[in-house]
Amino acid sequence: MARQAYRASIFHLRDDPRVVPPAETFFSDGVLIVEDGYIVQAGPWYAIASALGDDVAVTRFENALIVPGFVDAHVHYPQLDMIASPGGQLLDWLANYTFPAEMRFADKAVAADTASFFLDQLLANGTTTALVFATVHKGSVEALFDAALTRNMRIAAGKVLMDRNVPAELSDTAEAGYAESAELIRAYHGKGRLTYAVTPRFAASSTERQLELSARLLAEHPGVLLQTHLSENTDEIAFVLKTFPECADYLAAYEKFGLATDRSVFAHAIHLSPDEWRRMGANRSSVAFCPTSNLFLGSGLFDLAAAERAHVPVGLGTDVGAGTSLSQLQTMNETYKVGQMQHQTIDAFKLFYLATLGGAKALKMDDKIGNFVPGKEADFVVLDRAATPLLERRMAHTTSPAEALFVLAMLGDDRAVRETYVMGKRAYRR
Ligand code: GUN
Ligand code: ZN
Repeated sequence: MARQAYRASIFHLRDDPRVVPPAETFFSDGVLIVEDGYIVQAGPWYAIASALGDDVAVTRFENALIVPGFVDAHVHYPQLDMIASPGGQLLDWLANYTFPAEMRFADKAVAADTASFFLDQLLANGTTTALVFATVHKGSVEALFDAALTRNMRIAAGKVLMDRNVPAELSDTAEAGYAESAELIRAYHGKGRLTYAVTPRFAASSTERQLELSARLLAEHPGVLLQTHLSENTDEIAFVLKTFPECADYLAAYEKFGLATDRSVFAHAIHLSPDEWRRMGANRSSVAFCPTSNLFLGSGLFDLAAAERAHVPVGLGTDVGAGTSLSQLQTMNETYKVGQMQHQTIDAFKLFYLATLGGAKALKMDDKIGNFVPGKEADFVVLDRAATPLLERRMAHTTSPAEALFVLAMLGDDRAVRETYVMGKRAYRR
């Protein structure tokens, strides 16, 4: 593939803007240069234009902003068909809507059809990387990974492990879950841009033996991730503590089995004690903050400041189907509101950080994606500053890049995604 240049406004972050300010880079008339799927350079048009060879094709986007592809740090693809199911908090919602929906994934055809639709929806929302729950069925992971390979997307996923306290149709066994996970790791981990994630659903839905074998999978396969849920809902916490009476708190149930590692991504982490936060930092584990889900299920308000104090990497998760949108712009919107409810102001740079480089760091992929540092994979989104009449009108009254980014995050959704590129190739056009 020859060198390509994309001219528009460009925004990305070199690091967490609240840790090492100023971390942001903004070129109002910028150019992103890509070759063979990798970033060559991002810079101001005036400085780079004259050095571009005649053979470089320049694509110009009017009224557009190029940002790194969004990272969804926690999402359940099999829950797409029951998104927006009303009533009840977590445990009732799981029993009434989630488990019945996941049973359908025993059928590989359902899994394949849903996986294709899901990945196309991610691209339509500007999301190029995600850490994804499949179901307990091995075929549900194969379907997702096969669809991701076709699209060359950087996807991490795993077979859900659950062998107690769930419906019999969705229950595996510790040994079978271990064996199937190991087979999937051998078949897919490291193939194309795929990463395997060992996926015990949550502490209370696995026997001790299953949690032990989950840790064995992590130990036997360097580079695989672990994803699960942690401290989302007060009834769930009580259930976990009843299941593990020897544990003083929820996090201890994972620590006991060696699952709280620097490769672990915990969804939610809403009700952690100061000591749990301290241990999260010491364990170097990451968190997926899922605001639309946390508000939809009434789970609680995530304390981003506590995570920052503990030096815990945080990414944004949509957590569909408890989350209500696959759009990371809409997820930034609700992130801001969750901050407001706690008198924490989260500015636009931090919001975009959480949805890009922050997510990449949480997933241990920041050496490959998350910003436009030369040599990284060229996953990027072209956002439309005039996607809707209201957005266009409000944008005309912005006076700084930070304000324009904030307005995009508050008013934007998939309508604001004009094009999405995966490793330098256009994968979506509105
Ligand atoms: N805890 C255990 N399973 C789930 C799930 O599917 N969604 C959410 N939000 N929390 C969970
Ligand atoms: Zn979840």
